[in-house]
Amino acid sequence: MKTPFYYYDMALLDSTLAVLTEHAKQNDVAVHYALKANNHPRILQKIAARGMGADCVSGGEIAAALAAGVAPASIFFAGVGKRDEEILLALQSGIGAFVVESAAELFNIEQLARANGCIAPVLLRLNPEVDAHTHSHITTGLAENKFGLAPDDALALMPHLIQSDALSWRGLHFHIGSQIREAAVFEALCHKVNHLLSLFRTIGYSPEIVDLGGGLGINYAEPQSESIPNFAAYIQRFRMLIEANGARLHIEPGRSVVAQCGSLITQVLYIKEGKTKTFAIVDASMTDLVRPALYEAHHQIQLVRPDNWTIPASPVPIAMRPYDIVGPVCESSDVFERDLLMPELKRGDYLAIRSAGAYGAVMASSYNMRPLAESLFSDER
Ligand code: LLP
Repeated sequence: MKTPFYYYDMALLDSTLAVLTEHAKQNDVAVHYALKANNHPRILQKIAARGMGADCVSGGEIAAALAAGVAPASIFFAGVGKRDEEILLALQSGIGAFVVESAAELFNIEQLARANGCIAPVLLRLNPEVDAHTHSHITTGLAENKFGLAPDDALALMPHLIQSDALSWRGLHFHIGSQIREAAVFEALCHKVNHLLSLFRTIGYSPEIVDLGGGLGINYAEPQSESIPNFAAYIQRFRMLIEANGARLHIEPGRSVVAQCGSLITQVLYIKEGKTKTFAIVDASMTDLVRPALYEAHHQIQLVRPDNWTIPASPVPIAMRPYDIVGPVCESSDVFERDLLMPELKRGDYLAIRSAGAYGAVMASSYNMRPLAESLFSDER
């Protein structure tokens, strides 16, 4: 296949899904995969086949989840800017819940539901004001962020929500950010959630659903040492710390499900000896994987053999030298890594940019009129 392309290790995806669903089942936690991380139909079908639900943020994602076979009742629809036609699609499809982020949105959903003779199931998304200690572009749980309702604003909406003939309240939703690697952050979330739950319960509002969002981070530096994230610890922590009192716990993992199974495979076009640096100019760019340019993210980069994209070409240490691995796009942020120690590189060498299965292909653009990278799946060769 023409480089650059995304390569997905479907055996790793299978084992990741097996571990995740096993721990979720043991702990009676419902899982909604966040489609925004990767929405390729082949990946969605595998996820749907495990009986998982979906966390969607657009009509397009709802349609993709339904097409892959996700049960409508386990689709949740989040996002601060739901359009009328998306709300109507969700109502007509019979989704499990709208995750509502503002009063204005709640009233709009109510109006559309009433006009169409439906009852819209609702989760209120609360902003728990817990700092996720992650990159500022992917933190969402602070008061300054646009997401969720302040708890007192949510409480003020409750009498209306409970009495409405076109709305049905199902519970509360929380999501504080992404790529969270510190257990203490999730512990802080649990404590805050318990506090908010007791606030609601004291007034007589007992949720049926407590949705804790997504956010579990992965090991970008050493993906091989942790190819399947520690779902056991993540899920058990919620089980142990959240005072559920009969409410069902839900989670919405995205990255942790699909990141490690995907690599962006690229070829070296030119080696350029600069005055102070050596550049390896590759045929992939920020248009294929924008995370390094957008979040200063680091993805492991390995020289790989063209007969097996998962295996590094030189497992034994050989002479190394530093390269800046850069793409062809006319932006100085089009850099995958600086001063990366690599074996001597030459034109035509294949590199794998690891942990690119999440927020990789889905965030691609055609800037500079570059074509979108295709996808290759390990089980279709
Ligand atoms: N639920 C909600 C409400 C979300 O906003 C997100 C992610 C998730 C679940 C899934 O979170 P995850 O388990 O993947 O952390 N493009 C960024 C990440 C943006 C995440 C946005 N929301 C990146 O490449 O790092």
